[in-house]
Amino acid sequence: MKYNDIRTTFLNFFEEKGHKIVHSASLIPNDPTLLFTVAGMVPWKGILQGTEPAFASRVADVQKCIRAGGKHNDLDEVGFDGRHHTFFEMVGNWSFGDYFKEGAIEYSWELLTKVLGLDPNKLRVTTHETDEESTEIWRKVAGKEAIRLGDKDNWWSAGDTGPCGPCTEIFYDFGADIENEDDRWVEIWNDVFMQYDRDANGNLSPLPKKNVDTGGGLERWAAILQGKTDNYDTDLFVNLMKAIENVVGVQKNAENTPSFKVIADHLRAVGFAIADGVIPSNTDRGYVIRRILRRAMRHGQILGHKGALLSKLYPALITEMGAAYPELAREEKHVVEIIQNEENAFADMLQNGMKLLENEIPKVNNHVLPGDVAFKLFDTYGFPLDLTQMILRDKNIDVDVAGFEKSMAEQKERSRANTKGTRTLWESQTQLSDTDDSTKYSPDANMQSKVLSILHNGEFVETANAGDEVEVALDKTNFYGTQGGQVGDSGEIQKDGKAVMNVSEAARVDNVVIHKGTLTDALNVGDTVSTIINAPSRQQTARAHTATHLLQAALRHVLNEDVEQRGSKVSPDSVRFDFSFGRAMTAEEKQATEDLINKWISEDLPVSHEEMSLDEAKSKGAMALFGEKYGNTVKVITAGDISCELCGGTHIYHTGEIIRAKINKEKSISSGIRRITMSVGTLAE
Ligand code: ALA
Repeated sequence: MKYNDIRTTFLNFFEEKGHKIVHSASLIPNDPTLLFTVAGMVPWKGILQGTEPAFASRVADVQKCIRAGGKHNDLDEVGFDGRHHTFFEMVGNWSFGDYFKEGAIEYSWELLTKVLGLDPNKLRVTTHETDEESTEIWRKVAGKEAIRLGDKDNWWSAGDTGPCGPCTEIFYDFGADIENEDDRWVEIWNDVFMQYDRDANGNLSPLPKKNVDTGGGLERWAAILQGKTDNYDTDLFVNLMKAIENVVGVQKNAENTPSFKVIADHLRAVGFAIADGVIPSNTDRGYVIRRILRRAMRHGQILGHKGALLSKLYPALITEMGAAYPELAREEKHVVEIIQNEENAFADMLQNGMKLLENEIPKVNNHVLPGDVAFKLFDTYGFPLDLTQMILRDKNIDVDVAGFEKSMAEQKERSRANTKGTRTLWESQTQLSDTDDSTKYSPDANMQSKVLSILHNGEFVETANAGDEVEVALDKTNFYGTQGGQVGDSGEIQKDGKAVMNVSEAARVDNVVIHKGTLTDALNVGDTVSTIINAPSRQQTARAHTATHLLQAALRHVLNEDVEQRGSKVSPDSVRFDFSFGRAMTAEEKQATEDLINKWISEDLPVSHEEMSLDEAKSKGAMALFGEKYGNTVKVITAGDISCELCGGTHIYHTGEIIRAKINKEKSISSGIRRITMSVGTLAE
């Protein structure tokens, strides 16, 4: 039976048993604890936990899954056996408080033995050591004596916390002539009895309802039903292998089969993930996909192929799987473009990095490649550590991972040192208290501050004179110190109503605001001063900052919802905004983005500045920057119903105040990351 027929047979069976059939959910889970959808139950976690209502009490689907890069990780196994995949399809049926152990076991048994016609003698089952009930049901339904196993084998959960429970697994016997136990007995279906919720301390509490969550690997089912012992010998993979042969111009043989398997597997993972909106990048799931793509290119290289590979194979994936997954064809242009960009960016690096590695291999001592070499491959040639490890595995060489990490840390330290200037000096001032800058959003003209420290020529001094370039810390200030991508205020420090210092920028070292600039008169530690910000410049920065939020919203409208901020610099003269996106924007897209921002500006939407708890902000759906630390109380900036972001910056109160926005440039700054520069206000006009 062919793949496409097995899928339909499975779904038809459960439809006849009263199940609602749904299309696979996205590979990008709505669950911060997971990188990818790793099992069919991931989209239903909320229903299982009782926090979301069930839309049906019986559901079945075939779910796209990726197990790579997280707790469930099969990446290193792919290519070496016939069973591992990074991407696979999981068939599953669910009961949300409807049938339980008996129903689940009966359905599994009926489908496998009556509908799909598997020989009952070739099936073995396991149950949890505490689960008398399932064990008894197996005796009754199938005349089988289950093997009883502990938590390691027969307890299932998607993550460390959340719904879980005992499970019963069904294994297929590939025959006594297969020596390796793991190859002989292959798990083909897992029926989980989701009864408990595990909290962060490991405590189990009963779920509101008793549920069933089942999962079977379609690839394994296909192998059995097609009389194969290797999933990669089934119809779908045989066709993908042919497509690979055509693209690389090499026939598959016993020796090069691992590379064919890796490429076929990785084509599915990369193709499906990008079609679902993942963008290759240097972080999180984007980095997992980039790594998988680069590994595939390396295997292309082993087969003697150069350059674009997966982008050329993607049409074959649509031919094989497009009928079941229309999103593959719908997103074809986007996916091929993204893969091409990635492949173009890495092709030369792969060639050059391999040259370096080949030079280094003869120098290797004790089968360990030095960490600094692995780091150079990473830093200069874009070789993810696992790629280098994969390449060296055949040669029986390990990588000094601790050395790699040390080189990485040293490089971070170097780049920090270059940018930090006087930072360490300030950091050494341990007795310095945090600056009270609570008036920064509404500067208080009558506020009096005290001079705490003056840094001049690399030394802390009691007094400095007119003309001296200094950095000054006060007990209180109206100045906004550079943070969160917003450049700090400029302005004046006054003493007795007269300017004593021109402040070019207020910076921050942790919670201390540092006023940088030139003295116009003598200044002493202990002096009483007032802080006067440059109001027009502050207003222009506020325009720019609100416009940046509108820019992000507009990009998500014009390009796609997956566009994410990767960095920004908001200054009075311009906005620089970095975001994840895999290709150059077209002239039309840039124009559409600019037009949308200007439309929102002309609508003069109200911009609210609210303080609330982090939880409240999250429940409002406020966008936050990944990796940014937020306190318990946060500021939320909302522009009409266009944008809602956690943001500590300064903003205007009506979008009309921005006057106008103009996109000046859009360019690549690294693979998958684009940079837009934009001006606002009268500058834009
Ligand atoms: N959620 C179960 C699994 O993935 C069915 O094995």
